[in-house]
Amino acid sequence: MSRLCIAVTGANNGVGFGACQRLLEQLSSEHQTDANPQFDIPVESKDVPDEPPQWSGLTLIMVCRNMQKAEAARGKLLSYLDRILEVRKAKGIVDEYGKNFRQNLVIEIEKCDFTSVKSVVDCARGMRTKYPYLNHLVLNAGAASFTAIDWFKLVIPLLLHPVISLTVASYIIQGIGERSEDGFGYIWQCNVFGPYIFYRELQPLLEAFHSRSDVDHHYPSRVLWTTSIEATHFYRPEDWQLVETNHSYEASKYQIDLVASQLEKQALRLEEQTNRPAKVRHVLIHPGCASTGIADNMLYPIMIYLMNLAFYFARFLGSPHHPKDPHIAGIAATHTLLTPIENLPNPQRHSRCLKFSEIDSEQKMLLQEKLTEVKWIRVIDPKDPPPPIKFGAETDIFGNPRVGVMRVKQWKEYEPESRALVERFEGLYKSLVSDHPEKFTPVPEGDFSPAADGPVVQKRRVWDHQDGYGSNARGSTYTSGYN
Ligand SMILES: NC(=O)c1ccc[n+]([C@@H]2O[C@H](COP(=O)([O-])OP(=O)(O)OC[C@H]3O[C@@H](n4cnc5c(N)ncnc54)[C@H](OP(=O)(O)O)[C@@H]3O)[C@@H](O)[C@H]2O)c1
Repeated sequence: MSRLCIAVTGANNGVGFGACQRLLEQLSSEHQTDANPQFDIPVESKDVPDEPPQWSGLTLIMVCRNMQKAEAARGKLLSYLDRILEVRKAKGIVDEYGKNFRQNLVIEIEKCDFTSVKSVVDCARGMRTKYPYLNHLVLNAGAASFTAIDWFKLVIPLLLHPVISLTVASYIIQGIGERSEDGFGYIWQCNVFGPYIFYRELQPLLEAFHSRSDVDHHYPSRVLWTTSIEATHFYRPEDWQLVETNHSYEASKYQIDLVASQLEKQALRLEEQTNRPAKVRHVLIHPGCASTGIADNMLYPIMIYLMNLAFYFARFLGSPHHPKDPHIAGIAATHTLLTPIENLPNPQRHSRCLKFSEIDSEQKMLLQEKLTEVKWIRVIDPKDPPPPIKFGAETDIFGNPRVGVMRVKQWKEYEPESRALVERFEGLYKSLVSDHPEKFTPVPEGDFSPAADGPVVQKRRVWDHQDGYGSNARGSTYTSGYN
């Protein structure tokens, strides 16, 4: 069988690194426990395999912006795997499978900065010349403009509702109006649009796997979009580059919820229309609350220590959302990548079987809203069509990992916005990339253009100063450097 080829963005650190560790650990074993079904859903097809496919090797691609950090992380990953294999050997386990896996493992590094359109396109096109196909893409890299803690907003809610306050960090002050060198909203480009372009440029590679002869329809290519428990509708659609909001992080994650849900909806619609399995599926994942580098620039070492203690405390109080350790948090990625696709609940088909393990019961949310001035959603009307879901890393009180589901909030209200966003991103992607071939590495020869189940875009929008399309909320053009 073919090699398994997985790309993970932001793989040198935090949750991305944890997910890579977990992938190595799981794929080096015949028994991939993370692939076990996590949800009690009626399986659509009776022939869902119990055993994982036997790949002939793994190519793990670490997509990072800093080569030095990436090289160091690659070294750590290889030593981590070697230690695992040694431990198995010391236990007297004859591990031919693991030895074989190690021999056939290749860890590659690709340089990419998501705040630069050129860097993203050149990286993806470089990958298209190097790899024949890509099984899965984990869009994990992300950043936040966290600057400080608003202690007034933290202390009282923390005393009254510790679990909620340790889960939803609405007391963090964030920078406003930060821009990338391309002239876009920095957090928006880094967390949402950069990953979108990356996916679109890699779409031919993801689809190429589907056209291979040994493809197993239980394991279609998957794009994992990393969101957050905190993903909320903080943004106003007119501030879609998130340069006016003081919650650009949460808003960027909510945009990810909307865009990924819309892409998945389109993939499923096409599946139904053509009666053929979708070539690429889109899955939303979140790591829960993990202790990583994302808030490093505003935390002193003592605060990081206290935060880690607080995460244990939240878990002790019953929170499932505090995996803390990035390696545990990585289970959301490993489960959704390694399990047969039929084991992932599909809201359109399994809504009645899902129990939402959310913290947002209406009462609690109203309370939180009052305490922190955060505008929260109301609980959905049970008569509404089931919203899309995201898969999150959870633990029990002892830190044993598992996967839970949450719904995408306010889907009914924001579904039209999700369509508008995909259309806007697609128009922008084309106006920046396809219409300016001279600015990028040429598309490799023999490559094919976006396939039939690419994003369904009703009408391509053209650059137009009149209708504001392509303008940021302050009215300046977004294409500085690309006109
Ligand atoms: N930690 C949590 O509790 C939590 C909760 C919910 C969601 N998440 C999400 O999980 C993902 C991983 O975050 P983390 O917590 O693991 O944070 P992290 O430790 O800071 O890791 C972020 C990764 O993204 C990379 N990155 C940042 N900006 C980039 C850019 N412009 N171009 C390319 N790579 C870039 C970083 O590279 P460098 O090392 O070079 O900076 C790093 O590898 C993010 O999408 C985050 O929003 C985290």
